[in-house]
Amino acid sequence: MAAAAFLFGVAVQAALSAASRPCSPDSFRDALPPSASVLSAVSVANGGQFGEGAANLPYPTSPTNLPELCAVIVNVSSSAISNYRFGLFLPTQWNSRFLAVGNGGFAGGINWLDMGAGVRYGHAVVSTDTGHNSTSGDLTWALNNEERKIDFGYRAMHGSVTLGKKLVEAYYEKKITYSYYSGASTGGRQGLKEAQISPDSFDGLVVGAPAWYTSHLQTWSTRVGVRNLPVSDKKHVNASLFSVIGEEVIRQCDGKDGLKDGIVSRPDKCNFSLKPLLCSSRGANKSACLTKEQAETVQSFYGDYYAEGKFAFPGLELSSESQWAFLLGGSAPSSYGDGYIQYFLYNDPSWHWEQFNDSIVWQADAADPGNCTADDYDMTAVKESGAKILLYHGMADALIPQRSSDVLYERIAASMGGVGALQSWFRYFLVPGMQHVTGTAVDAPWYFAGPNSQARLGTAVYSTPGFEDARHDALLAMMAWVENGTAIDELVATTWKDSSDPSSGVLRQRPICPYPKRQTYRGRGNPDVPESFFCK
Ligand SMILES: *[C@@H]1O[C@H](CO)[C@@H](O)[C@H](O)[C@H]1NC(C)=O
Ligand SMILES: *[C@@H]1O[C@H](CO)[C@@H](O)[C@H](O)[C@H]1NC(C)=O
Ligand SMILES: *[C@@H]1O[C@H](CO)[C@@H](O)[C@H](O)[C@H]1NC(C)=O
Ligand SMILES: *[C@@H]1O[C@H](CO)[C@@H](O)[C@H](O)[C@H]1NC(C)=O
Ligand SMILES: *[C@@H]1O[C@H](CO)[C@@H](O)[C@H](O)[C@H]1NC(C)=O
Ligand SMILES: *[C@@H]1O[C@H](CO)[C@@H](O)[C@H](O)[C@H]1NC(C)=O
Ligand SMILES: *[C@@H]1O[C@H](CO)[C@@H](O)[C@H](O)[C@H]1NC(C)=O
Ligand SMILES: *[C@@H]1O[C@H](CO)[C@@H](O)[C@H](O)[C@H]1NC(C)=O
Repeated sequence: MAAAAFLFGVAVQAALSAASRPCSPDSFRDALPPSASVLSAVSVANGGQFGEGAANLPYPTSPTNLPELCAVIVNVSSSAISNYRFGLFLPTQWNSRFLAVGNGGFAGGINWLDMGAGVRYGHAVVSTDTGHNSTSGDLTWALNNEERKIDFGYRAMHGSVTLGKKLVEAYYEKKITYSYYSGASTGGRQGLKEAQISPDSFDGLVVGAPAWYTSHLQTWSTRVGVRNLPVSDKKHVNASLFSVIGEEVIRQCDGKDGLKDGIVSRPDKCNFSLKPLLCSSRGANKSACLTKEQAETVQSFYGDYYAEGKFAFPGLELSSESQWAFLLGGSAPSSYGDGYIQYFLYNDPSWHWEQFNDSIVWQADAADPGNCTADDYDMTAVKESGAKILLYHGMADALIPQRSSDVLYERIAASMGGVGALQSWFRYFLVPGMQHVTGTAVDAPWYFAGPNSQARLGTAVYSTPGFEDARHDALLAMMAWVENGTAIDELVATTWKDSSDPSSGVLRQRPICPYPKRQTYRGRGNPDVPESFFCK
């Protein structure tokens, strides 16, 4: 009920169109090529839910309390040995806009929860399964199947967007007015890639913490994991020490941004030293200290990765320690890194991380299996199409280092006239204290209704609860930029007393700022309200 009420409460819901055709497979057949078929078209009543349950390995949870809609699943043959599926939510009360949402990791499944978040705005929403059926960290499906890799790389998203738009216009017998994209991590990569290969696909994109540099990111993930292995080696740093290092980072770096609040907002200003943690240092805690060898290992996590003398990938940012266990805490590198080399690059499950050497990143770079990387830095055609892009990255992200978005943005800027010249259509926001895609370990404001965010709060969440406007919601801000020309000068991020539960009450809100501007404390005033900060 609440969701339906919002549909009429939001200012942007000017003219709503109703469906022109019944919600049945027959309504879509004439809009599809012979390679595609409708698997199902199901009416969902107002307040209902939709999903595939446990059959959808990465996204088993259904969005609930949906507005009345038609849920469609389409199957598309993409080659003799591959196919992908996509899902569509077609709301009965449609605002004439189209939205595509992304996936995460190597997940093979339709992202129904993010579709649910999108349809509450009144948009028709599409999501692809990316062409395979697996959980996020399982890459075995790629073995010896180059066609599946291409589906994952870009073909499933491109086809789902192209056909999805056709089905939307057939169903309503009306043109789409604006098309949007919202995705983070792999979803961020998918959006950038789609824009790069098809500049007209979207009018506006919200791109979070993108895994854009696949061939470098996944090989770096292995490299950084190997640095801490094997666990029997004297250089190995046990995961129990990560929080000790994180606390020392806060002790040395927190105040550098002008406010001691437990949130490291200016790691670039902090000349962090591991010295106080050395077992040989006076005052060190002898049961939670680092040997010289271990300190070198930790230093290497933060350091940029140079392979065979060339820059390959940036290192982890100071303040990301709360998530280090994901890539650095196991007895083998994460399957995201290892599995990429085994199943994407070499088609050799027997490849073992002990064989890692620095030529692998350049082999991956040259092969780019599946053509996954979104590294077409000259995005002039996207700019000229009139599209707008909002990129953001959490500074406490230890799955995809925040500085990898700096690399992307700076490279695009370098090929398109500099950072200043990007401001008219492409802005990049840093989010202090935000972890990978969602969440915070330090009570930092992280929420602005970005991709995956509503799903983190629940199955029936619309926008930013209590603040459903373009100042607090990245998608509404993007719509205002695209449709009204209101550029996004700042967005207000929110967190709650329980960072994933709005009913616990707002804890603090702060603006996030377009690069190279930074969130800056005014030096006085309540640090929990946005007015005490400005973009500098
Ligand atoms: C995905 O694979 C699992 C078995 O691993 C199966 O139970 C499920 O039905 C499959 N899902 C789809 C959508 O094919
Ligand atoms: C989808 O299409 C592929 C290729 O045409 C086919 O092999 C597969 O069985 C279809 N899937 C479903 C669920 O019908
Ligand atoms: C290593 O870290 C793990 C996870 O934090 C912890 O359970 C274990 O006790 C630690 N081992 C040692 C030797 O400290
Ligand atoms: C950073 O600290 C090191 C010692 O730990 C010192 O040698 C160096 O000069 C410092 N750099 C800056 C910019 O303060
Ligand atoms: C020293 O480290 C141990 C293990 O992490 C911890 O339990 C203890 O509280 C620490 N002592 C001090 C004085 O911080
Ligand atoms: C690096 O590893 C790859 C794969 O294991 C191997 O093909 C290559 O020969 C190695 N290169 C060097 C310089 O050891
Ligand atoms: C890979 O993508 C680039 C654009 O990013 C495109 O020019 C190229 O043709 C693609 N290659 C394949 C094999 O799809
Ligand atoms: C554009 O501006 C008008 C007038 O202020 C407002 O009603 C409308 O909601 C805005 N559209 C978007 C997409 O923000």
